Amino acid sequence: MVTIINKEKYRPHYHFSPKDNWMNDPNGMVFFNGEYHLFYQYHPYGTTWGPMHWGHAVSTDLVEWEHYPIALAPDEHGVIFSGSAVVDWKDSSGFFVGKPGLVAIFTHHCHPAGSRAHQRQSLAYSLDSGRSWIKYEGNPVLENERFVDFRDPKVFWHKPTEQWVMILASGQTVCIYNSPNLKDWTFASEFGEGIGSHDGVWECPDLFPLSVDGDPSKTKWVMFVSIGSSPEFSEGSRTQYFLGDFDGKTFVNDGEADTVRWLDHGRDNYAGVSWSDIQEEDGRRIYIGWMSNWKYANQTPTEGWRSAMTLPRELSLESRNGEITLIQRPVRELEKQRVPVFSIKEISMEEARARLSELRLNSYEIVAELETGTAEAFGFKVRASADQETVIGYLSQSSELFVDRTRSGQTDFHEDFAGRHGVKLEPVNGRIQLRAYVDCSSVEVFAGDGQAVITDLIFPEPDAKGVEVYAAGGSINLHSLEIYTLRPIKGEVAV
Ligand code: FRU
Repeated sequence: MVTIINKEKYRPHYHFSPKDNWMNDPNGMVFFNGEYHLFYQYHPYGTTWGPMHWGHAVSTDLVEWEHYPIALAPDEHGVIFSGSAVVDWKDSSGFFVGKPGLVAIFTHHCHPAGSRAHQRQSLAYSLDSGRSWIKYEGNPVLENERFVDFRDPKVFWHKPTEQWVMILASGQTVCIYNSPNLKDWTFASEFGEGIGSHDGVWECPDLFPLSVDGDPSKTKWVMFVSIGSSPEFSEGSRTQYFLGDFDGKTFVNDGEADTVRWLDHGRDNYAGVSWSDIQEEDGRRIYIGWMSNWKYANQTPTEGWRSAMTLPRELSLESRNGEITLIQRPVRELEKQRVPVFSIKEISMEEARARLSELRLNSYEIVAELETGTAEAFGFKVRASADQETVIGYLSQSSELFVDRTRSGQTDFHEDFAGRHGVKLEPVNGRIQLRAYVDCSSVEVFAGDGQAVITDLIFPEPDAKGVEVYAAGGSINLHSLEIYTLRPIKGEVAV
């Protein structure tokens, strides 16, 4: 029997995905010599998780990605788990004969038969702008007897104290270390016991400063911590964040210990961390997440490749209703992919419905402002056909934005996949503002100007291309509606 593989069926048009085989966490994101590097957890010999390597891609604009050969492969210390990369501007490591160069800091994981697993931190450096990597002969540079789970180092230069800082996940907490040279590390502090969510093992932390409302004299530190999947929670893996202060050694959390802040209210944004060394003139803090969930990541119905990244997103802290809130917006570079379909203002539902009924779209962006009226529920149905639809909606009574993927296409590969995911969002001046990105196997909704975010995978049939606007139990007004198709990135072909 011949099996026909439809490799491109769910291939995203404008999200990063590996050409072949399995991908999970983004790793080693760093900007150097005009290039954004994206490394990623990669299993080059299969479409499920396996012995980890670092895959590699490079971009000059965060939109088009060039695939590069594998950067790091397993060695005598183990397989290569997640980690980060930095520009060692002053050659503190001594790897670069006085010049700046790239250093990757990652976890070596090994599990010898009959003994406990070991997770140790190691270094690799590149003398050719990330094209090839040399593992440091002194590896590993940091180990620990106390924690079995001791991984995912994220390193950055802390200017005020003139030293490197490493934050890494240590079971149900994070540990912070300091170093003058990336090779010798001193323990500084541990954070997290009894604070935030402990629904799963802590993984892939990040720590970075952001100014509040664009005022450089008001800075807060943001800590990301991803929470692994555990059988008791149908949500699976997700990412929480903390806001607080950091002095180079210790993070002090603002607010109550039992407050949990989720980065994303969908199911498919995990292990996200930010780019290192984006130049000061640019000034942005940009992150990308793995667009999947450990609950079902190994079973998603793609063939020949598995998993994509979220859109790269710019982060900011803004005061909203008297509270400092983490805001996410897709990077502005994506706007150059836009091909306008239409842009209309102050239109009736009937007119909007008629305009949308002509469209057949699979990868596009919707920008809309909807005036809440008498309707109990309203919003858009995307990737729709006679028997499939993904609903991006709003419930007036409970003030809830949601994505419902119950009928989104293939859902039966895991019992926890189908469902509705929501987040509270109050209208502003009676309006809900929405930006939704739809691709061949995902929706990402940024509502309330980046305040409420839902990222969900979907697996619709390729011909489920309808777009609808709906209002149930009453009516609403559409203040504005813009639709753009998004040009496929190089190598991805629109169908
Ligand atoms: C998070 C994670 C990391 C680990 C990597 C292994 O998704 O579990 O903690 O380093 O994946 O692939």
